Amino acid sequence: MVTGFWVAGERVTSNATFEVQNPYDGASVATTCYATDSDVERAVAAAHAVRREFGALPAHARAAALDHVSRRLTERAEEIAQLITAENGKPISWARAEVARAASTFRWGAEEARRFSGELQRLDTDAGTTGRMALIRRVPRGPVLGISPFNFPLNLVAHKVAPALAVGAPIVLKPAPKTPLSALLLGEILAEAELPAGSWSVLTTTNEKAAELVTDPRLPVVSFTGSGPVGWGIRDSVPRKHVTLELGGNAAVIVSPDWLDLDYAADRIATFAMYQGGQSCISVQRVYAHRDIYDDLTARVVKAVEAQGTGDPKDPATKVGPLIDVAAAQRVEQWVGEAVAAGARVLTGGTREGATHAPTVLVDAPEDAKVSCEEIFGPVLTIAPVDSVDEAFEKANASRYGLQAGVFTHDLRLAFRASSELEVGGVVIGDVPSFRADQMPYGGVKESGVGREGVHAAMTDLTEEHVTVLTGITP
Ligand code: SIN
Repeated sequence: MVTGFWVAGERVTSNATFEVQNPYDGASVATTCYATDSDVERAVAAAHAVRREFGALPAHARAAALDHVSRRLTERAEEIAQLITAENGKPISWARAEVARAASTFRWGAEEARRFSGELQRLDTDAGTTGRMALIRRVPRGPVLGISPFNFPLNLVAHKVAPALAVGAPIVLKPAPKTPLSALLLGEILAEAELPAGSWSVLTTTNEKAAELVTDPRLPVVSFTGSGPVGWGIRDSVPRKHVTLELGGNAAVIVSPDWLDLDYAADRIATFAMYQGGQSCISVQRVYAHRDIYDDLTARVVKAVEAQGTGDPKDPATKVGPLIDVAAAQRVEQWVGEAVAAGARVLTGGTREGATHAPTVLVDAPEDAKVSCEEIFGPVLTIAPVDSVDEAFEKANASRYGLQAGVFTHDLRLAFRASSELEVGGVVIGDVPSFRADQMPYGGVKESGVGREGVHAAMTDLTEEHVTVLTGITP
């Protein structure tokens, strides 16, 4: 049986089939198919045609649809988690967590749809504008092209779809070619909701075909999550479009000597450097620990990392599964090898079996090694000692990325310093940078991207202010 894609709310199949493979054992998970040129055209034309009708749909109707999706994700949670694990290789415990997050993302979409209002601005601030008032509404910029990555095949799709539906912007979603099945299943649930035809499509297309969608003038908004070169290439190719980019990072953690519970810090660092095989843009990659606690913390991190067992992602005991494919694991292995050749020492890990790279801790990694300055997107972390807060901040900021950072400290003044001096989109105090609540603004500075997701922030991003001036008004 061939799993179809979704054109303007209708399930469609084509003859251009392809297999989705389980990254752990290479088994076929499902056969799906690429949208043809005419399917793509129908999806885009429908999104364009429905834009006014959908923008005018009452908030209660949009909220009801989003609530429905949230509820159905919860009802089908185990089935969807198993699918995520099969197509992505993510351990089942993390897949279950992802489904729960996606249900929350849609629930937030429903709640925000109900309260997303404009504002009134008084204009009687000068004699010449007495009796006037501005009504400022936020209206959709237009239909959205959402392009989502493989690492959270459901929840990062939810972060494209829920805010768009919440503001009444039609969306054409292109899921990652390696992990389209979760998004296609989400289509089944969207199809049950009462949404106008054309308000959403889920198209399995090649990345080459997506480039044509990027330049299509009927999709004036592009929301992309994925790699830096592709993201910046999109932005450069359509400078007049509204483009939001959620790109990579090489997130840093700073551990201050005032932090009391080193076991807790070590456990959090180990867990969130290795979760999903390190395939998260905010997984811990670089740890800077004050020299007073460096040896102690390093020993505890190594112990905690060694407790992160690899294996079959379906097994609830497995903490670290495979990477998305063998090539990804080979690249990680190569970067570790290059670092070692340049003087780094492997304290644990450093090996690869198929698509699985062992959880790895490196010390003495040169600052210009790829494991230090690029995004590794694998289960590898580096630890380095620092002598002061200034040095820690300088090293954390010496990155072309800036998504999130974590600071283990109990010192409120240090927390505020970190908040203002670290060059990132978000700072997490008392925990790792990998913390994300789906309602909070999320995005980066520098090469980590432009714009913000997080349901309310994305709704703001997908809309623009529209002013109506009222005359003859008593404020
Ligand atoms: C990402 O990889 O950017 C998403 C991280 C998350 O949603 O937890």
